[in-house]
This record gives sequence, C-alpha cells and structure tokens, in this order.
Amino acid sequence: MFDTLKPKIKAITNTKEETETKLKNICDLLQENVPHYDWVGFYFRNGKKEELKLGPYTGEPTDHTIIPFGKGICGQVAVSNQNFVVPDVQAQDNYIACSITVKSEIVVPLFVNGENIGQIDIDSNTPDPFTDEDERFLEFVNAEVAKIIEP
Ligand code: SME
Repeated sequence: MFDTLKPKIKAITNTKEETETKLKNICDLLQENVPHYDWVGFYFRNGKKEELKLGPYTGEPTDHTIIPFGKGICGQVAVSNQNFVVPDVQAQDNYIACSITVKSEIVVPLFVNGENIGQIDIDSNTPDPFTDEDERFLEFVNAEVAKIIEP
C-alpha cells in the first residue's frame, strides 16, 4: 500500500499548486487510502515562538490549533526531534485529546536543512496499528515535503 502511495506523493509535490494546497492534497491522499489513518495533519513551528501551529489537515476540526512546545505528543516531538508512536493514547500522561474516538497516534518530525520545522500528525481510531512501515513511509512523506518548503 505504501509503495503505491509514494509516487502519488511525488506527483502531488511536483504540481504547480500552492504549497498549502499540496499539503492538503497529501493529507487527503493519506486519510482516504490508509485505513488506519483517520485524522492527518501538519503542524509547523509558529514563527520564532516555542509553539506549533496547525497547518493543512484532513479529518474532524480540532480546537488544538496552537500547541506549546513540550505539551502533548506533538509538543514533545517538537523538542525531542524523534518519531513518537503511541499505541494507546489513554496510557499517555502528556497527551492532548482531540476526539474521544482516537485510540492511537503517530507523530513524525519534519526537517528542513536539519532543522525540526514541524511534523506530520496522524490519529487512528484503531488501537496499536502503527509499525516500522508507517514510520519509514511518513519519513519519506516528510522528506518530499521538505523539498517544497522554504527554509
Ligand atoms: N493528540 C495531539 C494533539 C493534536 S490532535 O491529535 C489533532 C497531542 O497530544 O499532541
């Protein structure tokens, strides 16, 4: 499944659309084609502030459009620079709930020229669905996105 999505990601990033549109199209592609991806969104560092701001996403609207560094899974990844796979969100103390239907989450940081400038965040309504394949695939997605983002 991920192998068939990779060329589609490249096709999206190679269009002449605005970057915001490309990112939204990537969210749509992932949410529609990966059964365990129920909410897909990008967060980016908000200027020079120690906080994340929600960018394009697909899924239910969230109240969490601004997340301080260190808060929740997303805020922790902003500081750790590491992938964060959460098989069971209820087992996490430092977690920001967006929807009661969410069971698990994966956040993968997005690097441009070695700097952590944001992340892709995926919520799943399935318990413990994420494997190494998800991590490698989302690292690929972020590497492609990094090519179209101004440093
Ligand atoms: N659950 C995230 C907050 C963002 S929502 O999932 C869209 C967190 O704990 O950082």
